[in-house]
Amino acid sequence: MIEGDMGYSWLVERARGVLGNSYAPYSGIHVAAAIVTAGGRVYLGVNVENSSYGLTICAERSAVSAMVTGGDRDPVAIAIVSDTEEPIPPCGACRQVLAEFNPDMVVVMHSVRSGKTYAARLSELFPSPFRLRRVG
Ligand code: THU
Repeated sequence: MIEGDMGYSWLVERARGVLGNSYAPYSGIHVAAAIVTAGGRVYLGVNVENSSYGLTICAERSAVSAMVTGGDRDPVAIAIVSDTEEPIPPCGACRQVLAEFNPDMVVVMHSVRSGKTYAARLSELFPSPFRLRRVG
């Protein structure tokens, strides 16, 4: 993990643009994500909470759903923006879902509260994703 945005400040801005759409009445933690694909398309997502807490969808997985729905499967970077004091790294479930499409993608994390930004490769955050290998 390094300090900085690895040249993806513009992607951070795209995520920041939908942070106000985050639905987080239970935790009060608002999160937005923006994915850019190899073809240069951008897909956005926010966290969507539920009164049955465990049904909550994280911003990253919302963005992955938008990407696949849009016909893309080749993400190169994701920006994750939150209103927490510290930038938030993707949760374990989101790491697995992101790794399905690119285990080495760039992950940029930014806090709108503190202005801090960190970046890492997903392979650094999540070095051993589960991959299904069929036998026979
Ligand atoms: N959250 C995300 O959107 N992404 C993460 O990677 C971590 C957590 C959301 C889920 C929930 O709405 C809130 O943050 C607090 O856990």
